[in-house]
Amino acid sequence: SLLIFWNLPTTAQVTIEAQPTKVSEGKDVLLLVHNLPQNLTGYIWYKGQIMDYHHYITAYVIDPETIIFGPAYSGRETVYSNASLLIQNVTRNDTGSYTIKIIKRGDRTEGVTGHFTLYPELPKPYITSNNINPMENKNVVALTCPKTQGYTYMWWVNGQSLPVSPRLKQPGINKILIVPNVTRNDTGTYECEIWDRVGSICSDPVTLDVLYGPDLPSIFPSLTDYRSGQNLYLSCFADSNPPAEYTWTINGKFLQSGPRLYIPQITTNHSGLYRCSVRNSATGSERSTFKTIRVS
Ligand SMILES: *[C@@H]1O[C@H](CO)[C@@H](O)[C@H](O)[C@H]1NC(C)=O
Ligand SMILES: *[C@@H]1O[C@H](CO)[C@@H](O)[C@H](O)[C@H]1NC(C)=O
Ligand SMILES: *[C@@H]1O[C@H](CO)[C@@H](O)[C@H](O)[C@H]1NC(C)=O
Ligand SMILES: *[C@@H]1O[C@H](CO)[C@@H](O)[C@H](O)[C@H]1NC(C)=O
Ligand SMILES: *[C@@H]1O[C@H](CO)[C@@H](O)[C@H](O)[C@H]1NC(C)=O
Ligand SMILES: *[C@@H]1O[C@H](CO)[C@@H](O)[C@H](O)[C@H]1NC(C)=O
Ligand SMILES: *[C@@H]1O[C@H](CO)[C@@H](O)[C@H](O)[C@H]1NC(C)=O
Repeated sequence: SLLIFWNLPTTAQVTIEAQPTKVSEGKDVLLLVHNLPQNLTGYIWYKGQIMDYHHYITAYVIDPETIIFGPAYSGRETVYSNASLLIQNVTRNDTGSYTIKIIKRGDRTEGVTGHFTLYPELPKPYITSNNINPMENKNVVALTCPKTQGYTYMWWVNGQSLPVSPRLKQPGINKILIVPNVTRNDTGTYECEIWDRVGSICSDPVTLDVLYGPDLPSIFPSLTDYRSGQNLYLSCFADSNPPAEYTWTINGKFLQSGPRLYIPQITTNHSGLYRCSVRNSATGSERSTFKTIRVS
């Protein structure tokens, strides 16, 4: 301990350390004062670097123990006997520098000062949506980035800053994003980013999964004339989210389910009107395409 004592500089600088080092809004922060000189009368904390009455937060007088509040006191600051300052429920307004003036006994004019700059972390925004599985051409989606009034906002769609689109509306301060008459092209991830003087923070992405379709199905190949003994291989496709359920019929009679139809070695009585029906259980829509097959 002798060595440690020997290592201490004789005129150690007053330093201020925030605990925790990172503080987010609504949390508390303690500004710890290290290397306090001895034989003190008291301390005065100021908001900012100007040590005048207007910026005076609070003061601690050691003997007799007295705590005084100044015009810059918000009701959330507490000064301790060891000069540390606790700021509770930190707000954005607490951003900026803090100065402590340490008054030594018999030295009322000069004192020792220490500075600290506080940058509360931005609160992480989040997105709420009235509907994350909207139906195409049916629903209006409103995304909201709430509880972050007063920040600069920015919306991101699929990792790109919001495209200037007449379809997307941002009423008032742009913390609401309205996607009227949603289409499948609005499927994707949406993020909300907020900014202050120091930095920015993005919300977790919210995925809009637009339900649509089925579109009119197509039957492949387009060939209509076959010969007996050939294999008939037809496939049907309709864009749909979620994927459509497929049903094949011939001349109105059920053949099978599934998008692909395979009949080996067809005969003339496989001629007829084939129908592929597609159904999306989420949108409740159903559509059909017909195809005539002639087997000679
Ligand atoms: C000062 O006092 C506060 C409150 O009691 C305490 O949390 C802190 O650890 C003390 N120490 C220093 C170095 O400020
Ligand atoms: C503190 O004050 C006492 C008497 O008032 C004095 O004897 C002592 O040397 C002082 N200590 C320092 C570090 O100034
Ligand atoms: C801090 O905020 C909490 C919850 O909002 C409140 O109950 C408490 O009184 C506040 N404390 C101070 C010192 O403002
Ligand atoms: C910040 O200060 C402004 C102006 O003094 C005040 O209107 C606002 O309510 C304060 N905000 C917070 C979160 O304390
Ligand atoms: C939504 O868009 C579709 C196709 O663009 C259109 O047919 C429909 O009328 C629109 N609905 C509304 C409410 O604007
Ligand atoms: C979606 O985007 C594609 C490619 O830009 C376009 O061809 C198509 O018409 C759009 N569909 C809708 C429903 O807006
Ligand atoms: C095709 O015709 C034969 C008799 O000619 C009959 O036995 C068979 O069931 C028919 N198949 C179909 C799919 O109609």
